[in-house]
Order: sequence, then C-alpha cells, then structure tokens
Amino acid sequence: MKFQSNFSLKNYNTFGIDVKAKRFISVASEAELIELLETEKDIFLISGGSNMLLTKDVEKTTVHIDIKGVTSNNIDENSVEVAVKAGENWHDFVLWCVAQNYGGLENLSLIPGNVGTCPIQNIGAYGVEVKDVISYVKAVHIETLKFRTFSNEECEFGYRNSIFKNELKGQFIITEVGFVLSRQNHQLNTSYGAINQQLVENGINQPNIKDISEAVIAIRSSKLPDPKEIGNSGSFFKNPVISMAHFQRLQSEYPEIPNYPMNAEQIKVPAGWLIEKAGFKGQRFGDAGVHERQALVLVNHGNATGAEVYDLACKIQNTIEKDFQIRLEMEVNIF
Ligand code: EPU
Repeated sequence: MKFQSNFSLKNYNTFGIDVKAKRFISVASEAELIELLETEKDIFLISGGSNMLLTKDVEKTTVHIDIKGVTSNNIDENSVEVAVKAGENWHDFVLWCVAQNYGGLENLSLIPGNVGTCPIQNIGAYGVEVKDVISYVKAVHIETLKFRTFSNEECEFGYRNSIFKNELKGQFIITEVGFVLSRQNHQLNTSYGAINQQLVENGINQPNIKDISEAVIAIRSSKLPDPKEIGNSGSFFKNPVISMAHFQRLQSEYPEIPNYPMNAEQIKVPAGWLIEKAGFKGQRFGDAGVHERQALVLVNHGNATGAEVYDLACKIQNTIEKDFQIRLEMEVNIF
C-alpha cells in the first residue's frame, strides 16, 4: 500500500479547493480497502469529491475509493441487473447504460460524482431519483469489517436523503451499487417541463432513452457550470419545504413564486428562486460566487478557499432567513 504525504486534494474535489491531506492513499479493490481498515479506522473518505466543501487541511488519513468494475445479469427479456463498483464515474456509467439500451438512468445524465456516493444523498434530477432504480447497496462496516447488502427499502431513501446520511453516518463504506434497469418498453420520464421543451427544440416527438439523455445533457450544460471549468458542487442547498400558511404569506407578496405542493399542509419552494430574489445571483465575493445562471450553485472562480465559500453560504442562509423566514439547509457536506 502506497501512502503519500502532504497531498493536495485540489483535483479530488469538484469545488477545486486546494487543501492538503496529511496522509493519502488510493484503494483499488475491496481487498485493499479491508487491508487498510484492519489497521486504520479513523479515516476521511473521498470518492468523486462532488458533494463536499473542504474548509481545512485533512489530518486523518484520506482514503480515495478507486474501486472499478461493471457487471450485468439479465433478469428476463424486460430487465437487467447491473452491479457497479463504487469508484466508477457516474456520468460514464449512465452513458454506458444508454449505449446498451438499458433504461432508467437517462434523466440523471451529467451529474458529477461517482457511483458509490449516489445512494447517500439519493441524487435526483428532472423527475427521477436514483432510488427509483437502485436494487441494493453493498457496504463494509468499518468497525467489524463485515460486508452488508442493503435492500432498497433498508436504505430509507428520501429527498436528497438516506440512512447513510442519518443513523449509519460514518459507519459504512459503500463499495458497490446494484441497479435494475429496463431492456425494452422503457418507462420514459419526460414530464419535467424543460425536457419536453428541449426535445421539441431537438425536433424529436418519439424520444428514446438516448434522446432524453442528450436533452438532459443540453439542459444541464446550458444552466449548470462544468466543474472542470469552474469549481462547484451542484446544488449547494436543498429546496426547502414550508407550511402552506407560510407559503400563502409569501405568495401574497410574491405572486410569481414557483412551488411544488407536497401534501395539503406542506409545499416545496425552489431555493434558487429565493437566492435570486435576495439579489445573490451572479454575485462574486473574491473568488467565491453564486453562479450566474442557477443561483442554487455556489462556485469557485479560481482560488477561493473553502472558508470563503462557506462564509458566502452562511451569508445567503442569513439573508434568506431575514427576507423570507426560511432557513436553507446545506446539501453539500462541509469538512
Ligand atoms: N429558479 C430561479 N432562479 C434560479 C434558479 C432557479 O428563479 O437561479 C427557479 C426556476 O425558474 C424554476 C425553479 O426555480 O422555476 C426550479 O429551478 P430548476 O428547475 O433549475 O431546479 P432546482 O429546483 O433549482 C433541482 C435540483 C437539481 C436538479 C434540478 C432539475 C435540488 C436541490 N436541486 O434544482 O439538482 O438538477 O432540480 O431536476 O433539488 C444538484 O443536486 O446538484 C442539482 C443540480
């Protein structure tokens, strides 16, 4: 096993924050991971680095999960189960599925990060959440080194949420995820307005999964910054859910406020809209900023420190609370 010291994590987090890991190791197999865990348990995990904001150097041993591999087994003529190791790049995997004509993940094209972290926050976009197609999550228990396979139900998925962010936080390392995908008669999800619009623009009226993937890629590329060009972690905040009474008060002042009713008492409002309304869209404070086309995304224009991005996030939280009496919750993990 090869450790490196004072290793820069700049290329290992999509925000492009330049902090150092005191000790760094990349593991390429489950066996290597177990070997490491036999002697070290107090570790800092990094995978795709797409949902984290690093605000300081990492003292613990940083373990980069680089376990690769994809295998598939046909269940019947309609569906296939695909087992994917944690270190596979998410978008490459989605493109592979589209190329095999395996349906279910096309709406989740171009989301940054790796397969192993997709269940933790139940990634979602354009009307689909990854929980819709996950069949199991395999993970190793850090304390006992025993592997456990969680069924979809056992993952306790919710909006940007799962058991791995709650009761089991920090206890397991995900090494593999299983997906059940369709091989024919794909259930296309084009209900999200922007997808329909994009398909029309592309001149497509009978879309297949490749058309949807391409439409999603076009929408995301037009709205969301590419982390290779400008550091970011996608949505920085969750969309808040507020009471209907609270919403009605806001709506009387802002009749145009977009909203997604959850049930009779609760309603979700887009954090991006609130942040834009508060005047932050496109603003820049040194190298930390708010993206000019999607206010939900905080960006690193080059050399921002994690602390600078975090300060901006707190400033936004405080302003939104003052202006709208809503406390935004950060979606990105802060270290
Ligand atoms: N809006 C604004 N100003 C903005 C951004 C959004 O007014 O700067 C308004 C839009 O006009 C629209 C509404 O807010 O009426 C919703 O915007 P959008 O469709 O862009 O989606 P979102 O709610 O802001 C969520 C996810 C995204 C996902 C999109 C599409 C969360 C926290 N974010 O964003 O996920 O791609 O829906 O499904 O749920 C991510 O998690 O990294 C991510 C990008």
